[in-house]
Amino acid sequence: MEIKITRTTTPKAKPAPGTPLGFGKIFTDHMFVMDYTEGKGWHDARIVPYENLSLAPSAMVFHYGQEMFEGLKAYKGEDGTVYLFRPDMNAKRANSSNKRLVIPELPEEDFVAAVKAVVDVDRDWVPTDPGTSLYIRPFIIATDEFLGVAPSKTYLFIIILSPSGAYYESGLEPVGIWIEDEYVRAVRGGMGFTKTGGNYAASLIAQVKAHDDGYSQVLWLDGVERKYIEEVGSMNIMFKIAGKIVTPMLNGSILPGITRDSILTVCRDWGYEVEERRVSVDELVAAAKDGTLEEVWGTGTAAVVSPVNKLRYEDEVMLIGDGGIGPVTQKLYDELTGIQWGKLEDKRGWRVTV
Ligand code: COI
Repeated sequence: MEIKITRTTTPKAKPAPGTPLGFGKIFTDHMFVMDYTEGKGWHDARIVPYENLSLAPSAMVFHYGQEMFEGLKAYKGEDGTVYLFRPDMNAKRANSSNKRLVIPELPEEDFVAAVKAVVDVDRDWVPTDPGTSLYIRPFIIATDEFLGVAPSKTYLFIIILSPSGAYYESGLEPVGIWIEDEYVRAVRGGMGFTKTGGNYAASLIAQVKAHDDGYSQVLWLDGVERKYIEEVGSMNIMFKIAGKIVTPMLNGSILPGITRDSILTVCRDWGYEVEERRVSVDELVAAAKDGTLEEVWGTGTAAVVSPVNKLRYEDEVMLIGDGGIGPVTQKLYDELTGIQWGKLEDKRGWRVTV
């Protein structure tokens, strides 16, 4: 894939070190764009100044939501080297979403090459304050001007970049989570395993409800029996129950998180017994009552490893541990971020230098 690069003539001021970045609020000088046209395939890969798009109001993405997105990060090591973390996994997952959404697949090597190229152009935007990184958001939208319900024949693949801090305003402080018993996010056979806007739109009503009650995130139950734990939406969820690491298995309705996979690999390497299986909410309530629910944390690209200190289900409020960050949660956070920022040995070949 050949990428034409047009650099901005009006670069923006970068946030000064020490500026709180928040998450996904600031965007860099450039973006990657590529077109798809039926019969021609993906074409005209280019890096251009970050700017507004011009799309017809009839563009299909606005009406039926045919779109997918990904999320990964670039990290700056102490010597200035810029790293990506397992970008090949994002490329694979992008195509799994594409297949489900009838969006043309992208060659995995082109996905990774596009990410590398745009991060390279904006490498000076990778922040260096502790815990900060350059969040990378690749996405594809359907652009045909048509109001019929059908797969589009034209698409745009775009990658934008955002220097970011912690996803949650609380940073690494533990969060309280609301187990949702009224609304559901996805069902098997639906789109729960994809990264597509509709899954997140479906989550907003419960998120607002949870926020109103002082909880920062929603933990979804399965859509059929409303009994089994699924995921948080912005992250997968893991429990330490009586010494074992337990997490919902990939069943088609939850996101196959790359951080999830990495953390489970690290846990197994450390000798923990790891169980990927159905986890009922009743099991959690019982474990919280008998004191075996030792730690709870979420995993995600944006959320990294995020400690959970409180779970609410119906009238039960389960307090986890002493309310602080559990020791395994902290150790996993340190291990993962150590690999991502180039501070620890990368035994598994997960780091990719830009
Ligand atoms: C990510 O972790 O990259 C995601 O896409 C989750 C999103 C809700 C921020």
